[in-house]
Amino acid sequence: MLGCSDDTTSQDEPSAEEDELLFTDISYEGNIKPIVQTNCIACHTDPPNNGASIPLTTYEAVKNAVESRDLIQKINSATNPMPPDGLMPKETRRIFDAWVTQGLKEN
Ligand code: HEC
Repeated sequence: MLGCSDDTTSQDEPSAEEDELLFTDISYEGNIKPIVQTNCIACHTDPPNNGASIPLTTYEAVKNAVESRDLIQKINSATNPMPPDGLMPKETRRIFDAWVTQGLKEN
């Protein structure tokens, strides 16, 4: 159920291995693109809006941002989060982790 977070706070963090089992076959087209469309494109369009530095509109752009612009760190950052108005749910961020672990596949 959504909206009941009280009883989940004390659970152990799942390991990266568990993530891999939960999130199999993660790809840009299948998983990452819809998340970026919803959470990032308002600013990271092409050309970017609202002071955002780079577009995140293509597979190459998002992959490059992971590899050389600390995208994963930014979406988990307490001090300078992306999106700036608050972190995405942990489940959503774990999909990015799984995408990295599985080799940043396009399809
Ligand atoms: C409300 C506008 C806004 C949204 C939404 C947003 N960003 Fe940003 N983003 C910015 C701004 C402004 C910067 C430049 C300043 C900074 O780095 O903090 C930035 C910078 C970045 C950078 C660093 C790029 C560089 O130059 O190194 C990354 C990576 C990034 N954002 C990823 C994301 C991701 C992924 C999302 C969605 C999950 C997202 N952002 C959502 C405004 C936004």
